[in-house]
Amino acid sequence: MTFRPLAPMALAAGLALSGLAHAQKAEVIHWWTSGGEAAAIKEFAAAYTKAGGTWVDTPIAGGGGAQARTVMANRTMGGDPPTAAQYNYGRQYEEIIKEGLLNNLDDVAAKGNWDKLLPEKIKNAVKVNGHYYAVPVNLHNENWVWYNKAVLAKAGVTKDPTTLDEFFAALDKVKATGVTALALGGQGWQEGITFRGVLLAVGGRDLYLKTFKDKDASGADFRKAVESFKKLKAYVDPGSPGRDWNLATAMVIQGKAGFQMMGDWAKGEFVNANKVAGKDYGCFMAGGPKMPYAIGGDVFVFPKGKDKDTAAAQKKLAELMISPAVQVAFNNKKGSIPIRTDVDTSKVDICAQQGVQAVKENRLLQSDNELLSPDAKGAFEDAVSKFWNSDQSTDDAIKAMAIALKR
Ligand code: GAL
Repeated sequence: MTFRPLAPMALAAGLALSGLAHAQKAEVIHWWTSGGEAAAIKEFAAAYTKAGGTWVDTPIAGGGGAQARTVMANRTMGGDPPTAAQYNYGRQYEEIIKEGLLNNLDDVAAKGNWDKLLPEKIKNAVKVNGHYYAVPVNLHNENWVWYNKAVLAKAGVTKDPTTLDEFFAALDKVKATGVTALALGGQGWQEGITFRGVLLAVGGRDLYLKTFKDKDASGADFRKAVESFKKLKAYVDPGSPGRDWNLATAMVIQGKAGFQMMGDWAKGEFVNANKVAGKDYGCFMAGGPKMPYAIGGDVFVFPKGKDKDTAAAQKKLAELMISPAVQVAFNNKKGSIPIRTDVDTSKVDICAQQGVQAVKENRLLQSDNELLSPDAKGAFEDAVSKFWNSDQSTDDAIKAMAIALKR
């Protein structure tokens, strides 16, 4: 996959990025520990090192990042903040902003012209009370389906499903060959992603917003989504509970499973395994090609530090992470698309092309991370997970989900 910086921009960025005054240490907390993720964050570390700094890597394992965010919250509240920490877009870091614990990046943003180069909806997602408290580094979408082309060919699945019915038909065909049809990591956040993919496939943008914006879990479509979600269980292998997301991706890469419903960080794993989109593996958006693109992905925040050098290191990090050349190098490995609109995307792979198109068509959608408090999101995913992992009735599950949304 090949995002390329537009030549003059890359040159300008290279010239603009001066080195640090001395080997300033920057400790960065993140949860990028899978093969593809680790390869991607190395691009940030390399850029910071090249600028004269010392990158201190603090990876906290746990896909989806709950564990890393807990460490970050405890350390920052406890007076021992790192230089920078990863969050998702949305409301996860609003509490530490309220507590006055974060530096804002308004001057870096003004200097780098972020207001101009970021898509409008990303700007809205990342600004709090008119201030930049985070640097956005990518655009992910969590509602993708990945598949192994050889497995599907053998099963006689010849085209990408565009509806839920077609998806179930394809799953049946793969299952009939004796291969696990759907690779799932059985952890709450992954079950949550699977549920939201089904929700979009059933009712698109309207049902998504009715659920997470209006906090309304009533109606026939919502019920259909809940039932269809549970129906997927028949295609998942017994080894699913507790499995990490990247191990589920590995099942698809190795031909041990047909499909995986997962964000496009999964593509980072295919790329890391030297697999080619359209040749070895395929991708489609849950619900078809014109689906809204729920804004997912990552930002870094910068806690107030004790010594005066911290702010200089933080500004340098933010400036580097969003610079054109680093954006290209990082996103090529991460599976996401660059967050700035001024890099050349004409040669991107067939999956990323759909993301680029969604941005062009302004099909971006506020995600549940932005629409729900972290508390409500957690409670909703707990309800989804309980339903998936027990014999709870559909009625009771819907009741529990409705209560969770109102938190
Ligand atoms: C998401 C994050 C991605 C990816 C994924 C799995 O929250 O946005 O960058 O790392 O978790 O760890």
